[in-house]
Amino acid sequence: MLSDVVISQLPAEDLDRRIPDLAALLHACVHAGASVNFVLPFPLEEAEAFWRSKVLPAAREGTRLVLIAEAGGRILGTAQLSTDTPPNQPHRADVSKVLVHPEHRRRGIARALMAAIDAYSVEMGRRLLTLDTRTGDAAEPLYRSLGFQVVGTIPGYSRAPQGDALEATTIMYKHL
Ligand SMILES: CC(C)(COP(=O)(O)OP(=O)(O)OC[C@H]1O[C@@H](n2cnc3c(N)ncnc32)[C@H](O)[C@@H]1OP(=O)(O)O)[C@@H](O)C(=O)NCCC(=O)NCCS
Repeated sequence: MLSDVVISQLPAEDLDRRIPDLAALLHACVHAGASVNFVLPFPLEEAEAFWRSKVLPAAREGTRLVLIAEAGGRILGTAQLSTDTPPNQPHRADVSKVLVHPEHRRRGIARALMAAIDAYSVEMGRRLLTLDTRTGDAAEPLYRSLGFQVVGTIPGYSRAPQGDALEATTIMYKHL
C-alpha cells in the first residue's frame, strides 16, 4: 500500500525550493474543502506566502519540524510539529497542517506521517501533543485511531472555507 511512499523530515535548507510543491498541495486540499485556516478564494500565491512567511522562518529557527510524504519526487502529504512553546511547556508540541493530497487519501499516508511525528516528538522530549481540527472532519477519526483524546469542542471557532458559516473545532491531545 505505502511501499512507494517515503516519509522524511524536510530540512529548513531544502524547504525553500520545495515551496511550490507544498503550496500546490495546500492549495489542492483547501479547494477540496479542507478547513486549515484559509478561506476561498485561495490563490496559489497565498498558499506560497503561507509556506514562505509562516513556515520557513520557524523551520530555520528550529521551532518547526516539517515532514513530507513523497513518491516519485512528488509531495503527496505533509505534517508539521511546532515546538515554539512557552518556557513552562518544554514537554509539549503542537501538530498542524496534516495534509494529504485529495487523490491519495485512504492509503495510510496520514497515519505514516503521524507515526513519524510521534517518533520525532519522543526524540525531542516532547511527550504531550496537542492539536485542533474541524469537528466532524476525517481527521477526527484519524487522530482518535492514533490514541488522541478529545478534550471538547468550541462552537463557532472558525469560518468555513466556502461561505460565512462559523464551524466548531475539536481540541485533542495525546501523551506519548
Ligand atoms: C485527514 C487526512 C489528513 C487523512 O489523510 P489520509 O492519508 O487519507 O488518512 P489515512 O489513509 O492515513 O487514514 C488513517 C485512518 O484515519 C481514519 N480516516 C481517514 N480518513 C477518513 C475518512 N474520510 N473517514 C473516516 N475515517 C477516516 C481511518 O481510521 C483511517 O484508517 P483506515 O483507512 O484503515 O480505515 C486527509 O483527509 C486530509 O488531508 N484532509 C484535509 C486536511 C485536514 O483536514 N487535515 C487535518 C487538519 S488538523
